[in-house]
Amino acid sequence: MHGRLLGLAGLAAVSAGAALGGHLSYRQAAGPNRAAAVPLLAPSDWVGLGAVDDFPPAEPVRRTVGELAVVVVRDGDDCHVLADRCAHLSGPLSEGTLVDGCLRCPWHGSEFRLRNGEVVRGPATAPQPVFETRVLSGHLEIRLTRPT
Ligand code: FES
Repeated sequence: MHGRLLGLAGLAAVSAGAALGGHLSYRQAAGPNRAAAVPLLAPSDWVGLGAVDDFPPAEPVRRTVGELAVVVVRDGDDCHVLADRCAHLSGPLSEGTLVDGCLRCPWHGSEFRLRNGEVVRGPATAPQPVFETRVLSGHLEIRLTRPT
């Protein structure tokens, strides 16, 4: 009898875990961070993306660095550069829209602050990787901002 009760308790615990996992995965979309591989693909040193004048103001533009896609948003003389594939489910942020200093993903509407990649609005839960930028002789260069 005691063993049977333990078996039922174990079954209840497994069922509750499965229900919670399903809810988080399918309803809350709290899956893995799709931008987690960016540090592995990003160059460790500065790399050029082209002339700053080639980037239209306030318009997301896609560029690639090796296998890594990034999105560039020119803001006056500054440029913001983030990984292009959304941390949520890999939506193309370069096809997104600008909203109050943030970039909104075209697939599910997550918004990431251009300045630091912070999630301002979900469903994304992980921040979007951002790149340091500098301009040398009118050319934009980036390198990955390493966590401190
Ligand atoms: S892919 Fe879902 S919010 Fe970007």
